[in-house]
Amino acid sequence: MKALIAVLGGDGIGPEVARQGARVLGVVGELFGHAFDMPEAPVGGAAIDATGEPLPAATLALCREADAILFGAIGGPRWGPSAPVRPEQGLLALRKALGLFANLRPVAVNERLAAASPLKPEIVKGVDLLVVRELTGGIYFGEKRRTADAAFDACTYTVAEVERVVRMAGRLARGRRKKITSVDKANVLETSRLWREVAERVVRAEFSDCTLEHQLVDSCAMQLVRRPGDFDVIVTENMFGDILTDEASVVAGSIGLLPSASLGEGRLGLYEPIHGSAPDIAGKGVANPYGTILSAAMLLRHSLGLEAEARAVEQAVESAIEGGALTPDLTSAGAVGTAEAGAAVIAALRAGVR
Ligand code: NAD
Ligand code: IPM
Ligand code: MN
Repeated sequence: MKALIAVLGGDGIGPEVARQGARVLGVVGELFGHAFDMPEAPVGGAAIDATGEPLPAATLALCREADAILFGAIGGPRWGPSAPVRPEQGLLALRKALGLFANLRPVAVNERLAAASPLKPEIVKGVDLLVVRELTGGIYFGEKRRTADAAFDACTYTVAEVERVVRMAGRLARGRRKKITSVDKANVLETSRLWREVAERVVRAEFSDCTLEHQLVDSCAMQLVRRPGDFDVIVTENMFGDILTDEASVVAGSIGLLPSASLGEGRLGLYEPIHGSAPDIAGKGVANPYGTILSAAMLLRHSLGLEAEARAVEQAVESAIEGGALTPDLTSAGAVGTAEAGAAVIAALRAGVR
């Protein structure tokens, strides 16, 4: 097949990991006979430096035209957080403009990496959960205001916004263990009471083959490290999902391992690791590219419908890890660099497809 994949590297380690993801997609194209056109475009701080805007019109136009977007990361100490124009605005505007309301963040544990987690091996063993994070509503997108001595961030959710993301979680739960945990703060927040009511109604009416439980977000944060194996699909609002998934990455061993897919009503999706631009290791060639490469696998599956190719990439990442291609976040001895880890995935991919 032919596909247009926009590659938005961004800032810090973003371009370093996006390069490995794009490299892997190029090899998938070669091995499986697809023509992937992968133009690059500026976003975030790099785009502010080049054009004054974090999401230039030409970048947004390319993304709208594309079949999928592979995204690295944006942000860094050079731009904000108090600057009037910030890299993060580019990513938020892109998600909103493309209607990407659901952010899928799978957390799976590779046995070989159990030691990379500070949690006990018996706690992380076999964990396989999926967080469905609402991505275009809530406090992120409410009115923001500042007076001389106060600041305001409004949090709003409409019934329709909750319905569509709960439906997405329900459909995904059906292909898994059919257990949905809806996470809110209904003991305090009005938006959370609405969230809980809507989740209850949608699951009862449309996903009666799935179980639904509700957890308060503070308790969920505790359960995620106490008994992560009990979770299947977690569905939650924008900010709770952001925070809980950085926490959940510790179960897998490193934030550098976690991929994500941001989806809307159509096929177009944005695929990015859940981590940021990691200014502390940028430019050193040591960032873990596996989260981005696994995001590329999600791109193949969700936007291009190429399930066999997606699985081949996921298996190649597993083989690379099992073969010991571990970046410094995953091992204290004999670590490899970003490009070497990418090369190990490509070697495994070629060996597996032959
Ligand atoms: P971060 O995720 O960039 O880094 C947190 C820690 O994890 C750092 O110690 C970093 O070195 C490590 N880390 C992250 N990714 C890694 C990888 N692939 N391999 C190895 N180690 C990795 O979070 P932060 O430091 O809080 O934020 C830095 C900047 O990134 C901020 O400007 C923030 O707004 C931005 N950010 C962007 C995104 C995105 O583009 N989607 C996501 C999160 C944060
Ligand atoms: C993420 C990031 C973003 C978010 C920031 C950079 C706007 O933390 O993708 O997880 O909060 O959504
Ligand atoms: Mn985040």
